[in-house]
Amino acid sequence: MKKNVLITGGAGFIGSHVVRLFVRKYPEYRIVNLDKLTYAGNLENLKDIEQEPNYSFVRADIVDKASMMDLFHQFRFDGVIHLAAESHVDRSISSPDEFIYTNIIGSVNLLNAARELWKDDHSGKKFYQISTDEVYGSLGDSGFFYETTAYDPRSPYSASKAGADHLVRAFYHTYNLPIVISNCSNNYGPYQFPEKLIPLVIHNIRYNKPIPVYGKGENIRDWLYVEDHAHAIDLVFHKGLDGNTYNIGGKNEWKNIDLIRLLCRILDEKLHRESGTSEKLITFVKDRAGHDLRYAIDASKINKELGWEPTTLFEEELRKTVEWYLTNEAWMQRVTSGDYLKYYEEMYGNRE
Ligand code: NAD
Ligand code: TYD
Repeated sequence: MKKNVLITGGAGFIGSHVVRLFVRKYPEYRIVNLDKLTYAGNLENLKDIEQEPNYSFVRADIVDKASMMDLFHQFRFDGVIHLAAESHVDRSISSPDEFIYTNIIGSVNLLNAARELWKDDHSGKKFYQISTDEVYGSLGDSGFFYETTAYDPRSPYSASKAGADHLVRAFYHTYNLPIVISNCSNNYGPYQFPEKLIPLVIHNIRYNKPIPVYGKGENIRDWLYVEDHAHAIDLVFHKGLDGNTYNIGGKNEWKNIDLIRLLCRILDEKLHRESGTSEKLITFVKDRAGHDLRYAIDASKINKELGWEPTTLFEEELRKTVEWYLTNEAWMQRVTSGDYLKYYEEMYGNRE
């Protein structure tokens, strides 16, 4: 094997797309997917590649410092792509603690393990922190987030990601750890847990449940197809310069209410409902506390330096995404029923 690559959080939404891309594209790499399998981690997302000879799965918690050290010594990783995180803003508002443990302490445990393993030789090594545009705070009606924009996180989620990013950079400056960071905008696509806006709206429309729109629905997000993100991650991992940050975004801003109305129209068509039926489900609810108004990424650095740009068209890919959720209803049922968590407890519960 040419390289041993650790991907953390590989059973989650974005992580599963990254694992699939790397396992298929780099048969000469050994890809180790490390995941705690929280409510958001689902090995079913990787069924199509789990038998590949260059893939292995380890159930572990990145907060467990000793087991991170052991794993790094056991597998002698050359590269780390760190996606494992608590990732949902609303959960971070109702209970922030887990975000601090996983996103900050877990990240430091990985950084320390990499520092220890690579202390005599940094050549060909890379610690890649996957971050979010939310660390930059909230924009007004105009302007963009640049790599040079000062961090100004406003939710416990974004603050915990910002804390981790600062530590990743500190390990570069202090210990010369070869790091790279990317900050991406909102992703959408198959296998996203239905606590996030797009799969939640699809699910609720399908079952004629109210669509909760926070505030007036005027907040703006910049949406990127998850496979476009995975391709950017591939490029940054292989070509990104040590110590650098790369912004990744879709140049695709949507007001929440406009995006929700578009989903209503697509679902009316696909479910053969009379036009306007799904829009009746829209329900304006109490706004999220500290709700960031607008995120918008300037991705010209990764475009100019690494040649990346999104390759998908938003409305076309969104339709395919809707189709995926409608076709994979059994997946949706399982992740919402909690049955799969019970299954993991039986499968892995007593192996920890
Ligand atoms: P997700 O919630 O779908 O998946 C997170 C994964 O991490 C799950 O498989 C979970 O089991 C695992 N995990 C959680 N705590 C763990 C722990 N203590 N030890 C080991 N594994 C643990 O998240 P996602 O949406 O796929 O996001 C992945 C990464 O990308 C996160 O770091 C997130 O901050 C970042 N990101 C997400 C978006 C987005 O739109 N979803 C955008 C930009 C950046
Ligand atoms: P979300 O998918 O949670 O991503 P993030 O908060 O990380 O951007 O939410 C996207 C936007 O949709 C955000 O402005 C909050 C809003 N939203 C709703 O209006 N209703 C909902 O039920 C959810 C989950 C989100």
